[in-house]
Amino acid sequence: MAILDILIYPDSRLHSKARPVAQVDSRIRKLIDDMSETMYAAPGIGLAAPQVNVMERIIVVDISESKDSLLAMVNPEIIQSEGQDEHEEGCLSVPGVYAPVKRYENIRVRALDKQGKPFELDAGGLLGVCIQHEIDHLDGKVFVDYLSHLKQDRIRKKMQKVMRHS
Ligand code: NI
Repeated sequence: MAILDILIYPDSRLHSKARPVAQVDSRIRKLIDDMSETMYAAPGIGLAAPQVNVMERIIVVDISESKDSLLAMVNPEIIQSEGQDEHEEGCLSVPGVYAPVKRYENIRVRALDKQGKPFELDAGGLLGVCIQHEIDHLDGKVFVDYLSHLKQDRIRKKMQKVMRHS
């Protein structure tokens, strides 16, 4: 396994749309392993392939305290949603920035697992938020995009400063 480099906002590649995975093969499984390792090392609770500069529809999520409940989703799709909720979100691509974002309260997601087998999952609370946040990355959307232009501007300047000093 390998730890991959995470793109940092406002890298324009974070705004590209990822393409569906045609086949879940050993290449995809290795990518899932590397993405998981990268997420755990960061540490974070979710990571989408575009964040490591792979423009394919793959996400990994683990919201457990014990870090032993990895959820890998290939070609995830929200097929049902209800309610609305607002939570403070953060992102490994926007280190040190947290802001509230409105999301669906409950979702049903359809995806392929690491073996390429389809499954469905009902998710609410933090898990639901995290999955919606990661699916956004596949559509080239970062949570910062939901904030006011003023806030986006401030975050961009802050990140540029962080990049210059790293
Ligand atoms: Ni993110």
